[in-house]
Amino acid sequence: MKNAALENCRKKFDMTAADMAAMVREFQSEMERGLEGRDSSLKMIPTFVDCATGKEEGSYIALDLGGTNFRVLGVRLDGRGGISVEHVGKYVIPTAVMRGTGEQLFNFIAGSIKEFMTKNRISASDDRKLGFTFSFPVKQTAVAKGVLITWTKDFSASGVVGNDVVGLLSAALAGYGLEKIEIAALLNDTVGTLVAKSYEDPGCDVGVIFGTGTNACYRERIDRIRKLPGLDGKGHMIVNIEWGNFSKAPANEYDRMLDQVSGNPGQQLMEKKISGMYLGELTRLLISDLIADKSLFAGEKVNFSRGQFESQHMSLIEADDSADLSAVKLFLGGIGIPDATLEDRAVLKEACRIVSDRAAKISAAALSAVFTWMDPKLDGKHTAAIDGSVYEKHPGFRERVLAALKELHGEKAGKLALVSAKDGSGVGAAVVAAVAASA
Ligand code: GLC
Repeated sequence: MKNAALENCRKKFDMTAADMAAMVREFQSEMERGLEGRDSSLKMIPTFVDCATGKEEGSYIALDLGGTNFRVLGVRLDGRGGISVEHVGKYVIPTAVMRGTGEQLFNFIAGSIKEFMTKNRISASDDRKLGFTFSFPVKQTAVAKGVLITWTKDFSASGVVGNDVVGLLSAALAGYGLEKIEIAALLNDTVGTLVAKSYEDPGCDVGVIFGTGTNACYRERIDRIRKLPGLDGKGHMIVNIEWGNFSKAPANEYDRMLDQVSGNPGQQLMEKKISGMYLGELTRLLISDLIADKSLFAGEKVNFSRGQFESQHMSLIEADDSADLSAVKLFLGGIGIPDATLEDRAVLKEACRIVSDRAAKISAAALSAVFTWMDPKLDGKHTAAIDGSVYEKHPGFRERVLAALKELHGEKAGKLALVSAKDGSGVGAAVVAAVAASA
């Protein structure tokens, strides 16, 4: 009975090699449409910046906004591929500010920068260059100019969509007496991740975040960015794919349920299948069905309500390799289910695995689409710099992505390297500001 129920779940979340290959084709056709400026779920945003040479140098202020934490960093580049983070300030954005007005949000940011500078004795009367990582879909028109297209990840501050975020930040900085700060670059976290890694490793050509949200960017030939008129067509530019919004990955009833009650129905459909903000809830929906059909907790009514199960709980459960699943038992005890049997705990672990397995396969298909878009036969070597909590903390996630890439590309998968790029979204802001300053 339980096995049959789990088998049924497996089928719903199944992603065969053929499904992955089909997704790669769909993904590339959306990439092409996006680059041409036609309707597409992939925005394919030109960023007006290329990778670093490693020779950029100087001291910069880096801002990192993209989740509930906002960070300010003082970063020094030595001109020889070396980066040192000299100061770090972390600020928690109150929910009321995330969902209040844009003015409140940008004043919060400017106020935090002011505090950071005072604390670290950085004078406000000297000229300073700042890089701003703003991890949302922004339509850029220059390296330091861009309009927010839509909020994602539960942000909803009013008066920001449709406006230039650099202008909003400059105005707030002026209000705090920080006019000497020049915002030299605005960038997405994926771009920061790629450019920061490229500062030390010039072979890196893709930047990816598997975290609260998910997204990727890559180095594109300028002549292939057809929607960008007026460029001479030589060289490369990084394109922010905004892949979280890809709408053609296979979906089942749980995906649809989750989407319908989300803050942005119909949007970020791939993100809702693979990122940390949603994986826990998706699994909770599956678990609730297993409870309802008595395959879990003997069908006993347990209070397992929306938002109670998070992706970090999945990580904890899947990491439990003990014979009696003692960590799972402890977790269940903590949420008021102390009497779960060993079989229950095993079913719970398997449910998590089913959902995270599909996440890894969808991630691999998206990566494969990007790599083979740049190099259809994988003649060369490619490196993706990757950051984010799911990638860093979910047990076996990286291995499962690599296994799926092998399924898709056989031996040639050996040419694809996935390297960890911790904190790229932070230091990357400094490197992109430096690249922009030296352009
Ligand atoms: C969301 C944002 C995107 C960002 C990603 C990872 O998908 O829309 O801009 O890169 O989260 O933080």
